[in-house]
Amino acid sequence: MTRHTVVIGDCRDMHEVPDGSIHLMVASPPYYNAPFDYPGLFKNYEEFLKLLKSLAKELHRVLADGRIAAFVTDDMLVDGEKYPVVADITRIMRDAGFRYRDRIIWRKPEGYIRISRRSGVVLRNPYPMYFYPDNIQESILIFQKGRFDYDYVKQLSPKIREASKINTTRYLSEKWNLAVWDITNVLPKAARLEKGIAAFPEEIPRRLIQLFSFTGETVLDPFLGSGTTIKTAQQLQRNSIGYEIDQELLPVIQQKINHIPHQQQTPNNPIQTEIIRRADAKKLRTRLQNRVKTQKSIIQKTAKLITKPTLQP
Ligand SMILES: C[S@@+](CC[C@H](N)C(=O)[O-])C[C@H]1O[C@@H](n2cnc3c(N)ncnc32)[C@H](O)[C@@H]1O
Repeated sequence: MTRHTVVIGDCRDMHEVPDGSIHLMVASPPYYNAPFDYPGLFKNYEEFLKLLKSLAKELHRVLADGRIAAFVTDDMLVDGEKYPVVADITRIMRDAGFRYRDRIIWRKPEGYIRISRRSGVVLRNPYPMYFYPDNIQESILIFQKGRFDYDYVKQLSPKIREASKINTTRYLSEKWNLAVWDITNVLPKAARLEKGIAAFPEEIPRRLIQLFSFTGETVLDPFLGSGTTIKTAQQLQRNSIGYEIDQELLPVIQQKINHIPHQQQTPNNPIQTEIIRRADAKKLRTRLQNRVKTQKSIIQKTAKLITKPTLQP
């Protein structure tokens, strides 16, 4: 049996989680004030960094020794300024006592980039200084709390060891061994469950959970969003706990995590789910989506203006 807990509340306080009880963290923090997902969520960049600093401290408390915290994130362009999120998370995690272990580049397919108008500027103005590349990557930052004691693996029961075994055929054929992972993002289909959440594809937590945790252990996602990490943990027979501050996302999370195919809910793999609603939850989604609509209409108006020749004499 695996247990899955959703806490609707702020991850800066994870008092429901005992010290040293988490075997892996997988999370994608909000993309600062990303214009298409989180416009105006934070008062400024310092506020965003403050959240990550508080989280890093809580993470150090709840993560077991030797275990991994993986962040899926990217530098963010807001109002024409690029914010160095990747560098800042690395610094914050190291300051909190974690070792910086690896950085994997998640490369998305070229056909699904959102802002291709950016690189087009050179086509309209084929001169130096007009270059703005389209982004098709994010970073998966991997941190470790101290060092892992590999005797732990020898002491596991043969049943758990066998159930946790990595499929090496898949590992090689899908090139998990490389520091660049080619994975399709959640496609922007109109009716998708994850609309406006900036969800990551299930393949990311699926790989990380298999590479960095054993069957029956516990995975944490402090920024649960639509619930992707819990859904994947359920499928891989890990326990999980997720924090999400936005109470408006609860119906989405419930839909996602109750979607486990019937055959995976055999008597051998019953799934128990608990929802905890806390007083520090907020209502965010409707407000953010309204701001996104405003952003989009401003961008459409600007686009009409810049499709005219822009080269200054
Ligand atoms: C990038 S999304 C995560 C998406 C998720 N990985 C998925 O696949 O659906 C970040 C989430 O963090 C939530 N969030 C922001 N601040 C938070 C906080 N202090 N505590 C908990 N959740 C928070 C946001 O509401 C948002 O849903």
